[in-house]
Amino acid sequence: MKMMMLLGVAAFVLCLCGAKASDEVVAVPTEVFNATTAILTCNLTNPSSTVKGHFWAKNNKMIENTQKESSDLHMEYKLEKIDSTTGGIYACTFRTANGELEKTIEVKTLPHVSAPKHSEHSIENDKGVLVCVSHGYPLPTDWTWYKLDDSGKKELNNMTDKYEIKSTPNKTTLYIMDLKIETDVGKYQCLGKNEFGSVEDTIHLRVRSRLAALWPFLGIVVEVIILITVIFIYEKRRKPDEIGDDDDSGAAPLKGDAATNHTDKNIRQRNSN
Ligand SMILES: *[C@@H]1O[C@H](CO)[C@@H](O)[C@H](O)[C@H]1NC(C)=O
Ligand SMILES: *[C@@H]1O[C@H](CO)[C@@H](O)[C@H](O)[C@H]1NC(C)=O
Ligand SMILES: *[C@@H]1O[C@H](CO)[C@@H](O)[C@H](O)[C@H]1NC(C)=O
Ligand SMILES: *[C@@H]1O[C@H](CO)[C@@H](O)[C@H](O)[C@H]1NC(C)=O
Repeated sequence: MKMMMLLGVAAFVLCLCGAKASDEVVAVPTEVFNATTAILTCNLTNPSSTVKGHFWAKNNKMIENTQKESSDLHMEYKLEKIDSTTGGIYACTFRTANGELEKTIEVKTLPHVSAPKHSEHSIENDKGVLVCVSHGYPLPTDWTWYKLDDSGKKELNNMTDKYEIKSTPNKTTLYIMDLKIETDVGKYQCLGKNEFGSVEDTIHLRVRSRLAALWPFLGIVVEVIILITVIFIYEKRRKPDEIGDDDDSGAAPLKGDAATNHTDKNIRQRNSN
């Protein structure tokens, strides 16, 4: 009885070791870079249990239409083009009676770097905010901002209070303090760099004066004033009309005034002659 138990434990341990040693997914290649197309392949060697199927995933999401019910020990995925949209971490997974077995293949490219807004409008004395984002794999490890002008490009950094740069792998933000029309208007460039190179994008910053920013508001104020004046004058003119006969008596002295003024002027002119 004791012997039987020992044998059983030994068999169990052997079986575990066997499972560990045999179930292996071999991916070829394990990494793809500097390529325009690729065929990703995975083989499952010495499966310890029934293979039920397999599928491919990219960045932890199953790729549509790659799931197959099959006992195949080989699977492959073709990348027709490799760029920042197809780059990522791919994984091949075999589904077996004992669970899932997977291996990853990294497909690396230059990152994609772009500014969501290529033209930014800000107001004098405000804080300017310029943003660039990145996707792809691997994401930039370094971000740099430049100001472009006739003499070339000047790197911007945190050294002065004028600029502040905040970056994560997928986003960089340049803050420009106390915007000045004379010095801050122009083109800015964000540059994201990973191990395969760098990619940049350009943003045009426009800065309006505070007064210019007020124009639309002033326009409305002026419109309202004109409207009120027109209504006021109209009301003033309408009232005598309603009274009726008094209208003429109201207008007459005005005419008289004008007439007297006129004659006064004539007299003065004659006198000067
Ligand atoms: C990619 O290929 C270019 C030449 O085509 C080479 O200069 C560069 O070093 C390669 N990059 C890597 C990471 O191997
Ligand atoms: C994987 O399996 C395929 C077909 O079964 C075979 O042609 C290929 O050589 C195998 N690759 C490796 C790395 O074992
Ligand atoms: C700028 O300073 C912030 C913290 O103040 C830091 O997180 C960031 O990495 C710095 N950026 C550069 C380009 O030095
Ligand atoms: C950028 O990365 C952070 C985590 O680091 C994530 O929460 C965020 O959704 C990402 N943004 C984009 C646009 O991918």
